[in-house]
Amino acid sequence: MTENAPVDPTSTEAWKQLAGIADGFTPDLRGWFDEDASRAEKYTFQAADLTVDLSKGLLTDEILGHLLELAKSVDVAGRYQAMISGEHINVTEDRAVLHTALRRPRDTTGLVPAAPFTVDGENVDDAVHATLDKVYAFAEKVRSGEWTGVTGKRIETVVNIGIGGSDLGPVMVYEALKPYVQAGLEARFVSNIDPSDVYEKTADLDPETTLFIVASKTFGTLETLTNARLAREWLWKQLAAAGALDDTDEARKSAVAKHFVAVSTALDKVAAFGIDPENAFGFWDWVGGRYSVDSAIGTSVVIAIGPDNWREFLAGFHAVDEHMRTTPLEQNVPVLMGLLNVWYSNFLGAQSHAVLPYAQYLHRFPAYLQQLTMESNGKSVRWDGSPATTDTGEIFWGEPGTNGQHAFYQLIHQGTRLIPADFITVANPAHPLKDETGDGSTVEAGQDVHNLFLANFFAQTKALAFGKTADEVRAEGTKESVVPAREFSGNRPTASILAPALTPSVVGQLIALYEHIVFTEGTIWGIDSFDQWGVELGKQLALQIAPAVDGDEAALESQDSSTKSLIAKYLELRD
Ligand code: F6P
Repeated sequence: MTENAPVDPTSTEAWKQLAGIADGFTPDLRGWFDEDASRAEKYTFQAADLTVDLSKGLLTDEILGHLLELAKSVDVAGRYQAMISGEHINVTEDRAVLHTALRRPRDTTGLVPAAPFTVDGENVDDAVHATLDKVYAFAEKVRSGEWTGVTGKRIETVVNIGIGGSDLGPVMVYEALKPYVQAGLEARFVSNIDPSDVYEKTADLDPETTLFIVASKTFGTLETLTNARLAREWLWKQLAAAGALDDTDEARKSAVAKHFVAVSTALDKVAAFGIDPENAFGFWDWVGGRYSVDSAIGTSVVIAIGPDNWREFLAGFHAVDEHMRTTPLEQNVPVLMGLLNVWYSNFLGAQSHAVLPYAQYLHRFPAYLQQLTMESNGKSVRWDGSPATTDTGEIFWGEPGTNGQHAFYQLIHQGTRLIPADFITVANPAHPLKDETGDGSTVEAGQDVHNLFLANFFAQTKALAFGKTADEVRAEGTKESVVPAREFSGNRPTASILAPALTPSVVGQLIALYEHIVFTEGTIWGIDSFDQWGVELGKQLALQIAPAVDGDEAALESQDSSTKSLIAKYLELRD
């Protein structure tokens, strides 16, 4: 343990002041905007290319002042500096936490710490760039067709096999950057141990043009290793069926060498699986799984979008890292957003947090954020092992707008719960289509559809903030008995995030923004945001229970009565 006991945030003066304000708090966004013509400008901030408007949040100068004091009391800035300096702030695993080192540019002039950046005796900058070079060289070979399958055909489909951080990041970024994918190349992602996943993802593939990337930090994850074996079996069978594989171990080995590569920190286990360590890309134990999308774990995406776009992606992360490192707390976007989230969840009773991308290509962003935020901050003990002194771990969820509008927005607008929501969008769409005909009434012929889309973004945040009073509803001639049902309370907080376009850099910026929001919240709560012991028990039990599910009587007998009867029912139903 290198870290001291965390400051108990509830013992700080700032916390007491905030609790006092929260007691009987009656937000008034209409009034606040009326009183202060500069509110929008005052609470709009810039982080790299991201314009972030927090003015429709439930904050005042007084609240913000206390939140900033809270950040100082727990020393958010100092802990961030400790993190990027390589201190072992992941105390329960005794590890440094250095995902920010994955995107430090080669030229580190002006960075802190300056090159060479060594951690535990290892030159991190050199190691990161050597691996990037290896990934880039491999990606170029696949993209150019120089790397071929065992029958000499170029690769057309890359299948990433991984789960958690070894899946959610790559799939989210691949989907976000689809317009940048090289024509003739496709990536697919297998994660679930449900055999339907690997079956469906491979069913229509040509084995001769398919490359599997087994992505697993530990190379010991049950789901990933099982799926990797299923994929290897599929490859051998399909190649044999196509007359492209002799029935010899040597031929099978050659097929694996040309159709399987790996990304892992455990190169010995990669070799044991039969993948040539020459075709393996490493990373390090100081990169957490959910913080690893910008490491070699993203190899599938590097192949799809190419090294130049990947460099831009990393530069986007780095721009926000530098914003986090150098910007005073008062203007520091991840810190401000993290503080507001604490205000909503710890003081105003928010139980969850919606993330609503108004960008179809970001449709996997909420799922990605669920691991980033909840695996990081879903903890009940602090980094010194003592119990958390307050609620931790926001529940993140969401869907892209406008789909969400027609599903769950009802509850956000009129439900009894406070649900802070982050609205994310871009000014320039990848496909600026026009509705050439329109409908002759609400939609003009030639309507720019992205404008219409964005009108929804602006309308939703406006409706949530300002609502509609009973008098306004009455003024529309609404029957009195229906007025309450048609009233909107307003004062439902949103943050609006606007970027110029969904470029590789902007996607990197968005990820880094949320990484540092998570960091800020975790630091306030005093928890280790970088371990994940809560996923272990279920994993262990699954292995213990597996024999019972396979019909081992003794193993079945040793289960609790509920589990035993459920397994018995399953076995009865199973053909
Ligand atoms: O679910 C737990 C977890 O350890 C995640 O933190 C991680 O991203 C995922 O499993 C996959 O782990 P690995 O990359 O080692 O296969």
